[in-house]
Amino acid sequence: MELSHARAIVTGGASGLGAATVRHFRDCGAQVLILDLDEKGAETAAETGAGYLRCDVTDEESVASAISEAVETMGGVDICVNCAGIAIGERTLGREGPHRLDSFRRTIEINLIGSFNVLRLAAAQMSRNQREENGVIINTASIAAFDGQKGQAAYAASKAGIAGMTLPLARDLGGQGIRVCAIAPGIFSTPMLRGLPQEVQDSLAAEVTFPKRLGDPAEYARMAAFIVESGYLNGEVMRLDGALRGDGEPELCEVGCLGRLTSFAETGDGRYLISLQGVCRFRVVSEMGAKTPFRQCRIKSFIADLDMETGAAEIDRPALLKAFRAYLKANDLDADWESVSRAENAMLVNALSMMAPYGAAEKQALLEAPDLKTRAETLIAITEIALARDDEDFGSSLQ
Ligand SMILES: NC(=O)c1ccc[n+]([C@@H]2O[C@H](COP(=O)([O-])OP(=O)(O)OC[C@H]3O[C@@H](n4cnc5c(N)ncnc54)[C@H](O)[C@@H]3O)[C@@H](O)[C@H]2O)c1
Repeated sequence: MELSHARAIVTGGASGLGAATVRHFRDCGAQVLILDLDEKGAETAAETGAGYLRCDVTDEESVASAISEAVETMGGVDICVNCAGIAIGERTLGREGPHRLDSFRRTIEINLIGSFNVLRLAAAQMSRNQREENGVIINTASIAAFDGQKGQAAYAASKAGIAGMTLPLARDLGGQGIRVCAIAPGIFSTPMLRGLPQEVQDSLAAEVTFPKRLGDPAEYARMAAFIVESGYLNGEVMRLDGALRGDGEPELCEVGCLGRLTSFAETGDGRYLISLQGVCRFRVVSEMGAKTPFRQCRIKSFIADLDMETGAAEIDRPALLKAFRAYLKANDLDADWESVSRAENAMLVNALSMMAPYGAAEKQALLEAPDLKTRAETLIAITEIALARDDEDFGSSLQ
C-alpha cells in the first residue's frame, strides 16, 4: 500500500510512538486522524495537519463514532496503527499485599481489548474499500510480551495478547484483503522515559546490545511505514529493540572492591543483614565458567590500596570541602562539621565518594580513579556538574 495516498487512524497519537507515527505519516503525504483520550492530541494535530478526535479505545461507542468521523473527514480508512496504551509496575505479591485486580484488569482493558476494539471496527470499514489490498493494521506489543520483568505481569500479559493474536487476526482478515502485523518495541525515548533521571536512562541504554541508546520514536514510525508499504509482510510480530535481550549475563565492570564480611545477622522476618568492610580494589582478569548461582572471576588486587595514605597529601582539601558545602546547601542538608574537620584526607575522600548520591556510572568512575588525588578531583568535578545541572533546571542526578 502506498502511504502517500493512504488514510490512517492512529490511536495514542497524542504522545510518544503514536505522535511520531502521525508526524512521519503526514510527512509522507498520508491523511491521519488521531484518536486519543488526551486533548494534547489536538496540538499534535494542529502541528502536523492531522485531525484529532477525543476517543477512549476501550469504549465501543467512542471508537465507532471515531471511525465514522474518519470516513466523513478522510473518505475511509486504509491503515490502523494502535499505539494507545498504559504501563504499570506492580508485583503479583507486593509489600502492600496481592496485585490489585482492578489495575490488572485496566491494563488488559486498554492495551489488549482496546487495540482489538479499534482494529475490529477499523477492519469492518477497511473491508468496504473493495480493492485487492483493503487495509493494514499495526498493533504495538512490547519486548515484555516475551521477556516481562518483575512487576510487569499485567503489562506483559496485555502485550503477549497482542503478539498472540497477530497471526489469527491475519488469518481471519486475509480474505478481506487486510494485513495485520505487530511491532514489539524495546526501550524508546518517549515522554514517560525522558522523565526519568539521566542516569536511569543511561543504565537502560547500556543494556541494549547495539546501538547503545534508547530507541527514537521516529524509528518506530519508519518501521510502521515500512510495514504499510511492504505488501508481503503479514501475520508477523517484529522486535525493534537493538537486540536487547534479558537473558544475557550483565556486563561486569573491570574494577570492583573486595570486602571482608564483618557481621551477619538474620532478622525475624527472614531477611539477612550483612556488613562488608572494603579492603582494597581488584581488577577482573578473567571470568571462570562457574556453574554456581553466582559468577566467579580470577582477579588481581590493588595492593597499593592497603596503604590508605598514598597521595593523601596532594589532595586539594579546600576545593573538596567547598564542593561538599555547595552540594549540602543546594540540597538543604547539613553535616557534622566538627567530624568533617577532624577526618584525615584519605578518610574524607573515600567516605564522601561512598556517601555521594550519584548514579552507578559516577560511582564506578570514583572507584576506578587511580589514586586518592584523582578520586578527589573526580568527586569535585562530578559534584560541580550535578550542581550546574540543578541550576539549569535539567533535573538532577543528586536526587
Ligand atoms: N516507550 C517505550 O519504550 C515502549 C516500549 C514498548 C512498548 N511500548 C508501547 O507503545 C505504545 C505507546 O507507548 P508510548 O511510550 O508512546 O506511550 P505514551 O504514554 O507516550 O502514549 C500513550 C498514549 O495513549 C493514550 N491512551 C492511554 N489510554 C487510552 C485510552 N483508553 N484511549 C485512548 N488513548 C489512550 C495516552 O493518552 C497517550 O497519549 C504503548 O502501547 C506502549 O505499551 C512503548
